[in-house]
This record gives sequence, structure tokens and C-alpha cells, in this order.
Amino acid sequence: MIAALLTQLGYPASAEAVVQRVERLVSSDADCLVVGDVDGDVVGFASVHISLSIEYDEPAAKLSALVVDEQHRRGGIGAMLVAELEARARRRDCNLIFLTTAERRRDAHAFYRRVGFEETGRRFVKSLR
Ligand SMILES: CC(C)(COP(=O)(O)OP(=O)(O)OC[C@H]1O[C@@H](n2cnc3c(N)ncnc32)[C@H](O)[C@@H]1OP(=O)(O)O)[C@@H](O)C(=O)NCCC(=O)NCCS
Repeated sequence: MIAALLTQLGYPASAEAVVQRVERLVSSDADCLVVGDVDGDVVGFASVHISLSIEYDEPAAKLSALVVDEQHRRGGIGAMLVAELEARARRRDCNLIFLTTAERRRDAHAFYRRVGFEETGRRFVKSLR
């Protein structure tokens, strides 16, 4: 289901590749992955990466991925996933949580504003491949 959710997010990948990515993430101290379920079925996930910072004494948390299954949106699952990641970042003493998001994701922008994020900058990307 994580692979299917990643496809909805716009990053199609094989189940095998996703299993390996999840294993890497959960074995990393700097990363955390949480899932949302309905009756035992995974219907969303979110991840956070804790980075040491030169700008602050405390680390910063980057919300690195978030998606809720199309059939289960607008039911509060996305907000719950973000709240859980915020709680974990606070426990790791992070002073802020941030994210980058593509311009085209207008729905996500509305969601992020609703759950307390402020728009403060732009994202620049350069492929290294
Ligand atoms: C963004 C996303 C994770 C939100 O998940 P969700 O479970 O639907 O969000 P919630 O139900 O917790 O929404 C909380 C509030 O955010 C706002 N919100 C959520 N989706 C919205 C939308 N499409 N348009 C406007 N506001 C929205 C609403 O105020 C909502 O509360 P309400 O339903 O009581 O009005 C989900 O839409 C998604 O997976 N989108 C595709 C993937 C994506 O863009 N991910 C982010 C990548 S940066």
C-alpha cells in the first residue's frame, strides 16, 4: 500500500524498491515514518527527517513526505499524521518543522496553512543525475 500511496504522490516505484526504502528509513536515527490506518489498512503515511543545524542550536525537522489515500481524504488523517510527526520532532528537541512543496500542489498548500504552517520561501531543485 505504501507503493500505491507513493504513486498517488507522483513517485511511482515497485513494491520491492519501497520495502528497501522503508527499511532504510526505519533503521535511521534521523528519520521517522508514521502510517495512518483504517480498520488495519494503511491509508496514509508521513515521514520526517531530523537535521542538525548551523543556524540554530537545536535540530530542525523536515516533513519529508505526506500522502493520504484519495478515498480517505478530508477525514482528518493528514492532520493527525502531521500532529504525530510534530510531537516526535518536539521530543527530539527540534525548534521548528518545515517542508518544501511543488507549486502545483494547491490542495496541499491549503492543507498546510490549515494545520499551522506559514509560507516563507521558495524551493530550487537541481538534478544531480
Ligand atoms: C494534503 C493531504 C495529505 C491532506 O490529507 P487529508 O487527510 O485529506 O487532510 P485533512 O482531512 O486532515 O485536512 C485538514 C484540513 O486541511 C484543509 N484541507 C485538506 N485538504 C484540502 C483541500 N484539498 N483543499 C482545501 N483545504 C484542504 C481543510 O481545512 C481540512 O479540514 P476540513 O476537511 O475540516 O475542512 C492529502 O490531500 C493528500 O494526500 N494529497 C496528495 C498528496 C500531496 O499533495 N501531499 C503533499 C505533498 S507536499
